[in-house]
Amino acid sequence: MIPEEVKKKIDRLTDEINYHNYRYYMLDNPVISDFEFDKLVKELQSLEKKYPRFVREDSPSRRVGGAVSEKFGQVKHGAPMLSLENGYSREEVIEFDKKIKRFLGLKEGEKIEYECELKFDGLAIELVYKNGIFTQGSTRGDGITGEDVTANLKTINTIPLKLQKPVPYIEIRGEVLMTKKSFRELNAERLKEGLALFANPRNAASGSIRQLDPSITARRNLIMYAYGVGKLTDAGDVKTQHELMEMLKSLGINVNKEIKTVKDIEGAVKFFEDEEKNRESLPVEIDGVVIKVNDLKLQERLGEISKSPRWAIAYKFFPKQEVTSIEDIEVSVGRTGILTPVAHLKPARIGGVIVKRATLHNQDEIDKKGVNIGDSVLVERSGDVIPEVVKVMSKGPHKNPFRLPSKCPCCGSEVVIDGAFHRCMNELSCPCQIKGELVHFASKRAMDIEGLGEKIVERLVDLGLIKNIADIYYLKKGDLRDLEGFGEKSEENLFKSIEKSKNISYDRFIYALGIRHVGEFVASLLARYFGDIEGIERADIGDLTSKFGIGEEIAKSIFNFFKLNSNAEVIKRLFRAGVSPYKTQAKAGGAALGGESFIFTGSLENFTRDEAETIVKEKGGTVEKTVKKSLGYVVAGKDPGSKYEKAKKMGLKIIDEDEFKKIINYKSS
Ligand code: IVH
Repeated sequence: MIPEEVKKKIDRLTDEINYHNYRYYMLDNPVISDFEFDKLVKELQSLEKKYPRFVREDSPSRRVGGAVSEKFGQVKHGAPMLSLENGYSREEVIEFDKKIKRFLGLKEGEKIEYECELKFDGLAIELVYKNGIFTQGSTRGDGITGEDVTANLKTINTIPLKLQKPVPYIEIRGEVLMTKKSFRELNAERLKEGLALFANPRNAASGSIRQLDPSITARRNLIMYAYGVGKLTDAGDVKTQHELMEMLKSLGINVNKEIKTVKDIEGAVKFFEDEEKNRESLPVEIDGVVIKVNDLKLQERLGEISKSPRWAIAYKFFPKQEVTSIEDIEVSVGRTGILTPVAHLKPARIGGVIVKRATLHNQDEIDKKGVNIGDSVLVERSGDVIPEVVKVMSKGPHKNPFRLPSKCPCCGSEVVIDGAFHRCMNELSCPCQIKGELVHFASKRAMDIEGLGEKIVERLVDLGLIKNIADIYYLKKGDLRDLEGFGEKSEENLFKSIEKSKNISYDRFIYALGIRHVGEFVASLLARYFGDIEGIERADIGDLTSKFGIGEEIAKSIFNFFKLNSNAEVIKRLFRAGVSPYKTQAKAGGAALGGESFIFTGSLENFTRDEAETIVKEKGGTVEKTVKKSLGYVVAGKDPGSKYEKAKKMGLKIIDEDEFKKIINYKSS
């Protein structure tokens, strides 16, 4: 192709992809399949690689996250970015309406039309478009000068790189937000990695925009809603705030659909009341509604007083933060053995709900905040998460932070530090973990003990008839007869299936033990490489990781499991009762994936993440942590995250769990 033609082709592809992005993200109404879209992206990418001089400013490839900067440049806003006067009651809002009428010389009975919008609780930004192309984005800063965060804003899909019309110059104002869902996921990930948690989605959004590596912003799943403009060359025949929003929409700018024009202030109060009810069901945090005089001419006449426009008010909800004190800290042990510290609070009303408890997450979080019993603390209930202790306001009698116990509060056995968590490793006997463990042990793909389901397990444990998995094999005839719904026949059937389960393959037996991170695949690897339980018991972490390349996390979990005497004791009792697993035939493993690279996103049904990664490595493939062009496969499970979006944009090969199973030749036993 001659360069002239290449340029044309790049132009056409850029426009086409931008159009489909607009349909996908703004209109929620795509007109081509993901596959077709991916093909276009791939084509553009390969042309851009060969002819970098033709890459357009609004190319979709510019979203991915550019270079890391040392510090942000400064941007002077074309017009000051104002803030809003706040009101917290109906009276204050009615007074706002009266003041406006007085200022405009209107009579009390006359009505003013208002435009009502949601008040988004995120980070205010300004976007500059020149000839329809996004050229600069900045934070609000002090209202006069902000920080240049263009590269970061370019990674947000709801910010178009090119407008639908090439308006000569326009400054668009809006709010960058993190959805409550992304916020929960981000914090869960950070908790695991021992990183400081964000107190709310607003801080998370702000932290994501105000950091120097755009590739981090790109992973944070942010969205932007516009609510106004700064300087602009031509507003056309726009006469109202409502028409302004419609105009922005027609340019391809994201405007939230919860906007309403009302004929008077009573209508605005009603909008507030409706949105207050609706608040919890929204995907993003709002902290109130904004009531704006609809007529732009009136807005101009009203002007501003000390940095806030006279024509608008933020009618805010009750705050979701409150100061209260910690009366006690209880440590609970979950089904997976994790010790979670929970603060018992002096009951406080937060955002309309009485809050009595707040999670303290783990020791790291307690240490970072320095909390202990008796402290006065700021508690926040936001982003649909369990209430959080944000910070200590004043210390109580304990100088040092609370310490999690070294013994499990449920069974008294030694607690192990497992990454960011304290964990009770007494998986087979800890009463807090045992019910889930028993159900797993008896399940179809494990020991397959028919008739030993969740309900029966619950009753047997509650009656003290079984305390661990080995006890199943020591039940005596007659033990079950008194159980509700159990007759001679059903007891006999259960004993039969218990008896039958004694003859089982080592794969399934190891899987049945319910060792953390050991699913069916790793269990079969262990059975194959070590032959029997004694072999595994003798292995140290080095043996486990070097023998067949299982991840450090899985190896530690296996090692800690067998190190604990109580677990070893339960296994001995199983053998003594006659459980005798037979060895599994060694299957050919090998480098079936010969150097192929994989990345995982979302949750898989049949494998834990660690397990899936181990399978890939064991078969000679590699696992990547970041999405890049050289990736062979992107395995997308349920609720895939930003990696999926990024991979889709980059046109990489995306497969689902079933295809993954085929590739690794996984056969369920
Ligand atoms: S209008 C001239 N509309 O609230 C007034 N602001 O407390 C400019 N905000 O800095 C703001 N949602 O970041 C407006 N629908 C909305 C808004 C909104 C959220 C933020 C904005 C502003 C802050 C003022």
